[in-house]
Amino acid sequence: MRVVVTGGAGFIGSNLVHYWSAQHPEDSVTVVDALTYAGRKESLADLEGKPRYEFRHVSINDAAAMASAVRGADLVLHLAAESHNDRAIGAPLPFVETNVLGTAVLLEACRRADVPRFHHVSTDEVYGSLALDDPGRFSESTPYAPRGPYSASKAGSDHLVRAWHETYGLATTVSNSGNNFGPFQFPEKLIPLAITRLLHGGKVPLYGDGRNVRDWIYVLDHCAAIDRIARTGRPGATYLVSAENELSNLEVVRRILRLSHRGEDAIDWVADRQGHDRRYALDSRRLREELGWTPAVSFDDGLRRTIDWYSGHESWWAPLLAPVARSEAR
Ligand SMILES: NC(=O)c1ccc[n+]([C@@H]2O[C@H](COP(=O)([O-])OP(=O)(O)OC[C@H]3O[C@@H](n4cnc5c(N)ncnc54)[C@H](O)[C@@H]3O)[C@@H](O)[C@H]2O)c1
Repeated sequence: MRVVVTGGAGFIGSNLVHYWSAQHPEDSVTVVDALTYAGRKESLADLEGKPRYEFRHVSINDAAAMASAVRGADLVLHLAAESHNDRAIGAPLPFVETNVLGTAVLLEACRRADVPRFHHVSTDEVYGSLALDDPGRFSESTPYAPRGPYSASKAGSDHLVRAWHETYGLATTVSNSGNNFGPFQFPEKLIPLAITRLLHGGKVPLYGDGRNVRDWIYVLDHCAAIDRIARTGRPGATYLVSAENELSNLEVVRRILRLSHRGEDAIDWVADRQGHDRRYALDSRRLREELGWTPAVSFDDGLRRTIDWYSGHESWWAPLLAPVARSEAR
């Protein structure tokens, strides 16, 4: 099979390309990535020169480049996006350009090339925010209610994917997952920011009262879900992906501090982010019951693996630290 991965030099994308190359060594993988600040070609360095691997330094907004990249593809896995909430608040238009317009350009290239399967990777943030005491969780039938420029742009991309399925019959699937963590994540997001700050002897900045709750998943469990959905999910369907690790940001930071042998005096409390969503929580029964997926890595085990990876890969993350100013929890 020939598989195209957009955003393959990013955090989830590079983990997915490694995962796919190991799980499906007979497949050839083409990575399409514009190499923004978040795209790190070095995350894929071990694959360079391999006969079944190709890297294309192009943007999904480039129609001619997309037409060429998806020609003859059996499956397109779409992860390219602007993904950082803080950046979206400061400068929203690149989020609309890449996440909305870029997705439309890519979908149109896939339609014209008769690509047989298209999988779109999206976020739980499209469903808005839950109250801390709300007993409910998001499901595939929860109405969309994004509250910020990042989540609104991802919601727009989800709608476009559905439209290309309903209107043109493109065989699409969509997955919406909670917060991912693991190796190769840019140290602007909460977990790698906390780990790298502590490794350098610094403090962990934490927004507001630290009680915002996220639904965490180890990135390789998410990759296994994407694999399952993209190959065997029902065309036109959406699947929520959750490992059911609902934790407050404060609790996440406490666990990192414990594993790093530091106390709570290493927390640097900072003013809350504008429009900071309170809680996300996902019901992933459809994915588990229809496609038989279950997560394999507990939160604490994933956290240990992630700390070990950052401890051993300072040359990957240290050059990226300088522009990072504040904590983030997507
Ligand atoms: N990280 C999470 O917790 C999370 C959770 C749910 C969904 N998602 C979604 O998963 C996808 C990947 O997220 P991530 O955390 O790996 O993001 P990331 O920011 O680490 O990576 C994004 C990648 O897309 C590339 N890119 C950006 N604009 C591009 C363009 N115009 N053309 C081609 N490539 C471009 C970047 O260079 C980068 O390699 C995104 O669509 C995101 O919305 C992420």
